[in-house]
Amino acid sequence: MKPLDDERIARIRTEFPMLRKNPLMQGKRFCYLDTAATALKPDCVIAAQDSYYQTWTANTHRGDYDLGHEADVRYQRARQTVADFIGAASADEISFTSGCTEAINRVAQGLFSWIQPGDEIITDRAEHASNILPWFRLARLRGAKVVFADLDERGSLTPEAVRRVLTPKTKILAFARITNVLGSVNDARALCALAREAGILSLVDAAQSVACETTRVEEIGCDFLCFSGHKMYGPTGIGVLYGRRQALELLDPPTVGGGMNARFYPSGDYTLEDLPLRFEAGTQNIAGAAGLAQACRFVEEIGADAIGAWERQLKQLARARIEGAPGVRVLNPDSPTGILTFIVDGVPAQDEGTLLNSKGICVRSGLHCAKILPLVPKTGTVRASFGVYSDRHDAEQLAEAIVKGGDILDAYFA
Ligand code: ALA
Repeated sequence: MKPLDDERIARIRTEFPMLRKNPLMQGKRFCYLDTAATALKPDCVIAAQDSYYQTWTANTHRGDYDLGHEADVRYQRARQTVADFIGAASADEISFTSGCTEAINRVAQGLFSWIQPGDEIITDRAEHASNILPWFRLARLRGAKVVFADLDERGSLTPEAVRRVLTPKTKILAFARITNVLGSVNDARALCALAREAGILSLVDAAQSVACETTRVEEIGCDFLCFSGHKMYGPTGIGVLYGRRQALELLDPPTVGGGMNARFYPSGDYTLEDLPLRFEAGTQNIAGAAGLAQACRFVEEIGADAIGAWERQLKQLARARIEGAPGVRVLNPDSPTGILTFIVDGVPAQDEGTLLNSKGICVRSGLHCAKILPLVPKTGTVRASFGVYSDRHDAEQLAEAIVKGGDILDAYFA
């Protein structure tokens, strides 16, 4: 892995039109630190997505003409690229979704008949709403129960905590590899090994991790892994559900319609296409799949681990500058990711976000969709998240804005 340095980052920045075209925000240097919410997109991704509309528009799996065949081939190639990106054994284990949220819902809804009244689903309170609400709904509809395993002091889920709540009724363990508020890292391999040993299904929400560490599903040993394209420099509206073949076979496709059925009859009976097509009812986001495949290549060429290491470096740079400043409290000093979460005494998180906006800085503030996370104030936190295009100036601009503070009213009325 070739580590990233200032020079390389400066070159990478030129590949992002959002940075080229928006040098200023609020009259200040544009400083985008909300990559955990969505990443900026490089030219190559935009071009790959656009190429579908410009040069090879046709529906997939339907056209008996050259262009239709080309669309089929390119769409399947995109699936294979994604499979290779996460080390899946086969492209058949990859189905496209609209994002990570739909991927998790596809699993939860798909298990409707499989889950039984009284069954238990283990997750934890650091999860994003998208990895809790699908389980709440499944539990409510089927008379099952969601059980929260305790978090450790850093907000991570440990195998020991899962073991404490594991019962013969447990059927599923669902957790994020990297949590979205504190950037806590969960030992996915150990947790999935525990799930396997217990004979239950495991689902990993990899939305925050795929762009900043190499992902190898076979080594993780998960049954399902879900992520979005837009957080890994890909387009919005496209995501991925990976599943081991045997795990995918348990799912009843939650959406039915064209393209996913093999046959249907006046009696009301229908048969399904093979994996993965049975999960892709209706015309798919073909352009998005092409953009996502390019995003995989973009991340691979730079190296996901190198991106993660660079982001951590910037986070620590900013952290060192703001820690100790009056009233500033960093909530995740040690989390080994590019997410820096903090509060400023007496300043509501969203006011701090507005203040930073007035200084050209985009961060996320509030509860970040993780509304039952116990380790943070109920009034919310401010989250700065670095990406592959972030540089030292970004870390310094953020730190200076936090340390100097300023009059919140100026942010609103200046
Ligand atoms: N899940 C995204 C975030 O954490 C939107 O901001």
